[in-house]
Parts: sequence; C-alpha cells; structure tokens
Amino acid sequence: MNASRVIGAEAVEDARRKGRIVFEVLPGDIVTALAQEAAQRLGIRLVDGPLEKPALICTDGAVSMRRALYRRSPKWVAPAKAPRKARRLGKLALVGAGGVGGTVAHLGALSDIAHEIALIDITPGMAAALAMDLNHTAGITGAKTRCTGGTSLDLLAGADVVVVTAGRARSPGMSRADLITTNARVIRQTAEAIRTQAPDAIVIVVTNPLDEMTVEMLRATGFARERVLGMAGTLDSARFRTALARAAGVDARDVEAITLGSHGAEMAPITSRATIKGRPLEVYLSAEQIDDCVHDAVTGGGQVVALKKTGSATIAPAHAVIEVLDHIRGARTGPVPVSILLRGEYGIHDVVLGVPAFLGATGLLKIEELRLSATETQNLKAAAAAIRERLGL
Ligand code: LAC
Repeated sequence: MNASRVIGAEAVEDARRKGRIVFEVLPGDIVTALAQEAAQRLGIRLVDGPLEKPALICTDGAVSMRRALYRRSPKWVAPAKAPRKARRLGKLALVGAGGVGGTVAHLGALSDIAHEIALIDITPGMAAALAMDLNHTAGITGAKTRCTGGTSLDLLAGADVVVVTAGRARSPGMSRADLITTNARVIRQTAEAIRTQAPDAIVIVVTNPLDEMTVEMLRATGFARERVLGMAGTLDSARFRTALARAAGVDARDVEAITLGSHGAEMAPITSRATIKGRPLEVYLSAEQIDDCVHDAVTGGGQVVALKKTGSATIAPAHAVIEVLDHIRGARTGPVPVSILLRGEYGIHDVVLGVPAFLGATGLLKIEELRLSATETQNLKAAAAAIRERLGL
C-alpha cells in the first residue's frame, strides 16, 4: 500500500515542465483543488494509476524526441524555444492625459508599446506639452514611440487601442459611484468619437465608476463585448497582493491573488484561491490578517484619495493599464482580471463585472470560470445586483 500523497499545484506544474502530459494519481492520493485547476490550465491529464508504462505515455512528443536524439548523440542540442514576441501596437490613444493617462504614456513609451501614442485632454496645452516632454526623453532612453497630443478627439483616429481615463476623479469622502452622471457624459462623447474614428479599436475604460462607465461605453459605441474592457481588476489585485505580501513578510512576487467583482464597495478579493509561495494564505496569515488585507484591497484607492486631497491614485492604476495592454499585445499570457459584460458566466447575465479573462489582439478571447467558494460566488452576484441597481437596470 502506498503512503498517501497530497498532490498540489506545484507537483502538477513540475510534471508539465518535465514534458509530462499525464499525471499518475495513485490510490490514496489526495489531489487539491489547485492541482486540479493547474492540470486543466496546463493541459495535463490526471489519470488513476498505477500506469503500466508511465514514462512512455506520460511524456509529450517533443520531449521524448529531444531525449531520443540526445541519447543518439549527446552533442545534439535542442533548439532553444523561440521567445514570445510581443506585438507592438500601431497607435495607442489615451483620452485623458492627467495622472493616469500621462503615466500610461510614460510607461508605454519606455516599453516601446506602440508606434504612436496620442494623448488627448480638454485642458488646453496639457496633452501637447506632455507629448513634447515625452518625445524629449527619447534622446536619453532611445525610445522609438512617437507621442502626439492635443485637445481634439480627432487625434484618436485609427487607434488600435483607446484607453479612456477622462472624467472627474474622486475627492475625499466621495465614493466612485458619486461620479456616475458627470462621467457618463464624458464617456458618451468619447464613445461617439471612437465609433466614428477608430471603429476597430479595443477600448479600455478606466474612468470611474468603472463598471458602470464600461456599460455606458458598450452602449454608446455599440461595440461587441470583446472590445470593451474595464480596467480595475489588475489594479485591485495588485493592491491585494501587496497587502498580503506585506502581512506575510514575503516578496510580492511570491503572492498569487486576484480580486473580482466591482471596482468599489462590492469588490471581491478571492481568498479561496490565493496563495503565498504556492501555499494557501492560512499557512502564513491569521484570519484577522487576511481580513485586513481584503480591507486594504477594497479601500486602497480611497486611502490614496484621502491622503492626496485632490485627485486619485495614478501610478499603480497606470501600471495596471499597462498590464492589460501587455496581455492584448502578447507580452503577457494567462488570465487577467478585467471588467467585461457577462452573458451567463458565473451565473450572471447582462452586467459588467470583473472576472478573469484571456486577452489577445482582438480583445477578449475567453472568460475563465474559476471554481469559487460559495461566499465568493455570492459576493459576485451581490456586486452584479448593486451595479444593476445603480444603473437602474
Ligand atoms: C483607484 C481609482 C483609479 O482605485 O479608481 O485608485
């Protein structure tokens, strides 16, 4: 009789790295939910063992071939895997050149994200000045991206991606929802320009209240849901991971965690699937510490507003926009939380909500339906109901 093993995600990932396409589960083994999820994600089958010829049937063809050729002549060197090539965007348009838009332009130019970055802002001179300032940096950084700027929405013509940050930001004491009426007007005006001047663009909405403004953008452009994404999940998840890393005294890179739901009071940080160094949060943190981290994720944006007095956070939101852009252009892979119109996913219909999704050159490729705890699923449904109510749906 075998001693029973606990098969975690790491064991499955390790097996896949070694080229395995089948993972042998022996009688008595306990396979964790994370391991099952990793197997599904990586395309490795969990098969009841013992298997008769594990090495033969468990390894994928490419790995077997490399091994066979190596045995024939150890001098044979397997060709290195071609590195992923990120696509450079043609034109990235930023509607709103304030703190977030300006920082997106800065980060984008530094990473050569697009051939052209067009900055648009209603404040006279602001976008043009920023574009000129950014272009001057090329003499030091060597950045190839050309920046243009002005007040006219005509500047977004022909963009492949439009990031919309325009609108009022919160003042201390305001909730994101307090901005609905004012910012909906800005979104409708921007949508009209996008519809006529960049009809094939992917639109990333950042303006608050995020989920409601994404609905507004969908309606006003008439674009398919695949091309209208709200950016909030990457930001809220970053705040959640930072809080968890600090509480556990580890590097933020050691933390895997996402938040779903709304970008507001009904945010749903997902603790059931979060890990620190590959292990459940409870291994490192008390229930109280986890609650504090959830609270920090939900209130992080508000905490910045309270300190700043005028305007909201800019740097983390800009990085979070770049993360979404990097998924669109193939510089990052895997699912990423974004706000998308749901059509039955997670049992929710016809409302925009943050969910994990695979993105690519055409926008949304696929929504990932994670297995969540009953409370988390309930939180998502509550978020959907609250957004629906705020929009009068
Ligand atoms: C924040 C704003 C951008 O969360 O919504 O910081």
